[in-house]
Amino acid sequence: MTASGERSRIAYYFSATVVVGLASFIFLKIFSLPGGLHYFEGLWRIPWLILLSLFIFFSVRVVNALLFDFLFRLRRGYEAPTLIRNIFTLLAFTILFVLVFNRIYQEINLGGLITTSAIFGVIIGLALQDTLGNFFAGISLHADRPFQVGDVIVVTSNKLTGVVESITWRAIKIRTFQNHIVLVSNSLAAREAIEVSPRDNLNARLVFFSTIYTDSPAKTIHIVREAVRDSDNVSDKITPIVRIRQLGDSSVDWEVKYWLDDYARYNDTDALIRQRVWYALRRNGLTFAFPTRTLYLERAVSPRPVTVEDQIADRLSAVDIFSPLSPDELRQLAKATAGHIFAPGETLIRAGDEGSSMFVVHNGCVAVQIADRGGPRTVAELTEGNFFGEMALFTGEPRTANVVALEETEVLEIGHAAMKHIFQTNPSLAESISWTIAERQAQLAKDSASAQPSIQETAGLLSSIKRFFGLR
Ligand code: CMP
Repeated sequence: MTASGERSRIAYYFSATVVVGLASFIFLKIFSLPGGLHYFEGLWRIPWLILLSLFIFFSVRVVNALLFDFLFRLRRGYEAPTLIRNIFTLLAFTILFVLVFNRIYQEINLGGLITTSAIFGVIIGLALQDTLGNFFAGISLHADRPFQVGDVIVVTSNKLTGVVESITWRAIKIRTFQNHIVLVSNSLAAREAIEVSPRDNLNARLVFFSTIYTDSPAKTIHIVREAVRDSDNVSDKITPIVRIRQLGDSSVDWEVKYWLDDYARYNDTDALIRQRVWYALRRNGLTFAFPTRTLYLERAVSPRPVTVEDQIADRLSAVDIFSPLSPDELRQLAKATAGHIFAPGETLIRAGDEGSSMFVVHNGCVAVQIADRGGPRTVAELTEGNFFGEMALFTGEPRTANVVALEETEVLEIGHAAMKHIFQTNPSLAESISWTIAERQAQLAKDSASAQPSIQETAGLLSSIKRFFGLR
């Protein structure tokens, strides 16, 4: 209410009280004249009661205005809640009225009349059921003081948001952000969950935006924070926070958390923040993200799908001793192999065993170990594309070392028959294998202090391989 409106209201109460007081004085004077009518008799008592009631009413309003418009505001700094004022008016008026009534109609017991009347009680109870519910809910709201005039509240059940304008004995008056007035009954407000953003509290808001993945997060944080903290209605008591909310499908998603001086203006401030973010990003070469998808198109180069056999042939082609083989021969050899998988630590070959096949490491890694005084000693580690077990296969002698998987390892086993077939079409293969065997034998002889493996010359090896495989 404006100051002039308040002044005129006070003047109105004051003059009305003076008029009623004056009227009462004249009334009394007329009836107390000698030979005049004897006052407080018969029907004359009714206008007297009305006049006094009016006097009480206006006096109570004047006291109400004095107490709440001046004293309360002076002490607390804000307008007194309407409900408190109404309760005060009601109580003061009722008490004074009963006192005056009892004085005028001494033969009628008004208090007893009200309290002993069952019908009166039922009528009041039924007629004022909702009103009394609202009234008492209003009293409890005032006692709790969960919110005050000027606070922003959200009635969560129906998402109603607005600024509290007043709390009366019946309802809470809310002004929504569309400038509508909505009345929420006190009893509903007492039942519902209500989100309160107090006027004298630093309330926060979140505003979202997204940038592309190539933009630097550190730069984005700095630039956006500086742009936001300068905006109107953003509190300078807490620095705004800019942080990554999530790494989205096609964007880095951000949120800006900022605190407002006046929460009731959050719609305008959110919009201002978004505007500031847009300009800040634009000025600094950062880019807003929009939904994108990266598609990888794969052109089919071969009409035939790649098979496991192709993969094995591919692996065999990387083994140096098989490099002279044609793609067809490699595929033939691949068909003749058997794949085996071993867990880390499993032994694939044990020294001294008979052996009629060799192995190619397809995936993983193995260690070649010989017995030493302190336990097994690793003399070589073989990885993808390396082979082992050829010594026993081509010489017919027992296995010369242990071979142990160092990790999960897949090997391709090539048997005697498959190798014989290869040797028939590629006699030069036997020669390159004999060199490898000779080298490994020499290495074993050097590494092994106790066991003395038989060392043969390459030429001797080659002839024994040929003999073993029935080659000319
Ligand atoms: P074989 O003797 O059949 O069984 C053990 C295998 O270990 C052997 O064949 C070779 O293939 C392999 N081997 C032995 N010594 C070495 C070495 N020094 N370097 C690589 N591999 C070896």
